[in-house]
Amino acid sequence: TILILDFGSQVTQLIARRVREAGVYCEIVPGDTIDAAALARPQLKGLILSGSHASAYGDDAPSVPPAVFEAGVPVLGICYGMQAMAQQLGGEVIWSDQREFGYAEVRAHGHTQLLKDIQDFATPEGYGMLKVWMSHGDKVAKLPPGFKLMASTESCPIAGMADEVRRFYAVQFHPEVTHTQQGPAMLTRFVRDICGCTGDWSMPNYIDEAVDRIREQVGDEEVLLGLSGGVDSSVAAALIHRAIGDQLTCVFVDHGLLRLNEAEQVMQTFVKNLGVRVIHIDATEQFMSQLAGVSDPEAKRKIIGKEFVEVFQSEAAKLKNARWLAQGTIYPDVIESAASKTGKAVAIKSHHNVGGLPDTLNMKLLEPLRELFKDEVRKLGVALGLPPEMVYRHPFPGPGLGVRILGEVKKEYADLLRRADAIFIEELRKTLDPVTGKNWYDQTSQAFAVFLPVKSVGVMGDGRTYDYVVALRAVETTDFMTADWAELPYNLLKRVSSRIINEVRGINRVTYDVSSKPPATIEWE
Ligand code: XMP
Repeated sequence: TILILDFGSQVTQLIARRVREAGVYCEIVPGDTIDAAALARPQLKGLILSGSHASAYGDDAPSVPPAVFEAGVPVLGICYGMQAMAQQLGGEVIWSDQREFGYAEVRAHGHTQLLKDIQDFATPEGYGMLKVWMSHGDKVAKLPPGFKLMASTESCPIAGMADEVRRFYAVQFHPEVTHTQQGPAMLTRFVRDICGCTGDWSMPNYIDEAVDRIREQVGDEEVLLGLSGGVDSSVAAALIHRAIGDQLTCVFVDHGLLRLNEAEQVMQTFVKNLGVRVIHIDATEQFMSQLAGVSDPEAKRKIIGKEFVEVFQSEAAKLKNARWLAQGTIYPDVIESAASKTGKAVAIKSHHNVGGLPDTLNMKLLEPLRELFKDEVRKLGVALGLPPEMVYRHPFPGPGLGVRILGEVKKEYADLLRRADAIFIEELRKTLDPVTGKNWYDQTSQAFAVFLPVKSVGVMGDGRTYDYVVALRAVETTDFMTADWAELPYNLLKRVSSRIINEVRGINRVTYDVSSKPPATIEWE
């Protein structure tokens, strides 16, 4: 085990992720309160001290408990972790009110075990150089006794230090962020070569550990989970079911705004294949009647969100013994909600998730995916036996087709849209991009059809038609904050258009959306 001592950095989970990628098991624990007893576990092989938003000088500066430096295992300090290490072991840190955060080139000095032979390029004089992401305001001005210089830049002469006798290492830059190109190599070097971890940890091990943790947390109490068919709630359900079987009950609320055959697929996967207890509530009528006559996008979102909570709550109330509410919260959600609490994020659309349930349920929260990133959740899902098509599905918004039917939502519109959308997705899956060898569904980040409640004139056979319009949307993005429309091949668009118009009676025109985000958003509402 590697313990990551968290001092309040936004990127602590990234350290954990890199350690997991190196095939080593790790846990994140609060840094300032850990004591000798907690460090006395026989499996402990090394410690990593995270960064922090605090200044090593500030009154609120979390300090590193002395037991950390007496645990007898290697310690790696990162950013604030380096400053705290320097200050507490007899060095000197100088305070600055300016923070520099960005790309830097760092020179590696001497041959420490941590950086030996790791470099991005060499200077003409033969110094090894690293391209890193640096964050410093405060910096170490004097090395503590026993330490030698390990790395430096012009503006930060002590950017890395090491005491190889005690096996203490520290860097001012962030090896865990992707901009630090050799970061994975450095962290792998630390956890495997310096700490001596074997590197054979993998997702199946994760399942065992997570299962143990869930059993320990829940005991013999019952758990309720809102299943949406999305990746996160599905993986959470499969994992919790693996841990506690029938102590888990899932509630699957069908608001009538799901994709074609989605409800059947969810029931097939969970009930038939995995044996999970799922209560399927078809609330289509209820949602449709609440949405009748409403065309404002925000009003629609609010109604769907509120209705969802009501249906879920009334089901939850029937399960008298459920003490836990399980949610598929993943790590990016944790960061996002922290960001929105600080008021930094501006709400463009009021997002609704199955996770957004009020605390009036009076239940304890079970969030077994809280520390995982999306791609790790997917790997976990596959390892748990969920179908890869489900696990690698494009994201689907909580309000479902409700935000893809412009203006007033009607069941008739939803039925047309579902069929058009299914044709689009089927053709995307079938068509390979000869350049990458991947199919267009996997190649795009999100693709769907949008229903436009306007009619246009067409001609079919000898007759005139006067029917609705569908817009196709396909985007490429890594973070969904910005996105480019996908340059789908014309022959693919041609096939999709002709199939939709021929097969979906009621639609006689198909358009392709060529707007990027920003200024457009991915969804139309
Ligand atoms: P926009 O339209 O804001 O969408 O560019 C960005 C991403 O968020 C998804 N989205 C939602 N997801 N609940 C969700 O769970 C919502 O209310 C919601 N609205 C948008 C959208 O599908 C895209 O992936």
